[in-house]
Amino acid sequence: MITINDIKKKKKNNERIVALTAYDYLTGYLVDSCGIDIVLVGDSLGMVIKGENDTLNVTLEEMIYHAKIVRKGVKNSFLVVDLPFGSFHITAEDTIRNCIRIIKETGANGVKIEGGKKRYELIKKIVDSEIPVMGHIGLTPQSINVFGGYRVQGKSEKRIEELIEDAIFLERAGCFSIVLELVPWEVSKIITEKLNIPTIGIGSGPFCDGQVLVFHDMLGFNPFADFKFLRKYANLSQEIEKGIKNYIKDVKNGDYPSESESFTVGKKLKSFLEEKYGDNTKNK
Ligand code: KIV
Repeated sequence: MITINDIKKKKKNNERIVALTAYDYLTGYLVDSCGIDIVLVGDSLGMVIKGENDTLNVTLEEMIYHAKIVRKGVKNSFLVVDLPFGSFHITAEDTIRNCIRIIKETGANGVKIEGGKKRYELIKKIVDSEIPVMGHIGLTPQSINVFGGYRVQGKSEKRIEELIEDAIFLERAGCFSIVLELVPWEVSKIITEKLNIPTIGIGSGPFCDGQVLVFHDMLGFNPFADFKFLRKYANLSQEIEKGIKNYIKDVKNGDYPSESESFTVGKKLKSFLEEKYGDNTKNK
């Protein structure tokens, strides 16, 4: 079992951390058995599972449902669950209650929360409640209405200073790692060098301590994912389309199922059937 200490140690030992999202049992199982360090049940499920345009609609109940089924397949990786929009924009007491629900009901190892310096007090309280917290700064998708679009962050002197300050505050608050999303590589390099905790990049260049991608995007399962930072390691949507079209063809021309893909009554019952029903029992 990968622990929070293993993750922190990897940064010290200069070992890259690899993270990937998962939203169901079999994906959790596959990702875990391939040796991924951190499995994230991300609120990106709002887009890739629910088909919404953003993550804002995802509820705490949905996060708990998906995290529970992912947990069944994840035996070794460190399992982190996103706090969805609205689940921490409330009192600290209610936020902690939500975090405790996630940990107790899903068996996850930690939570991820979007936002920088302004979450300092809240994160301290979550960490004080014995819950490991992964921070998330840069392009935080839950702030899409404030940002006005999915844009690279850190494109002005002010924003660069803000991002560096956010990262420092998150480390001070007790985060065990921080996701940097859509941050220019120069800025994520500075942040990574300044911090003792690992940075996990997505669209933030090669100098982060680790990388995270959305499962459906990196395997080409999501045909709509087309980002500059995304490397596709398979083309599942094409493979799936090919498979389904072949299945339709085979069923329509009677090629599927074949005799070897069917069950038989066996020799003894066959003669009984032939006597009673004649030719109807012949495989033609
Ligand atoms: O929701 C998510 O999947 C995420 C990762 C992309 C970091 O936040």
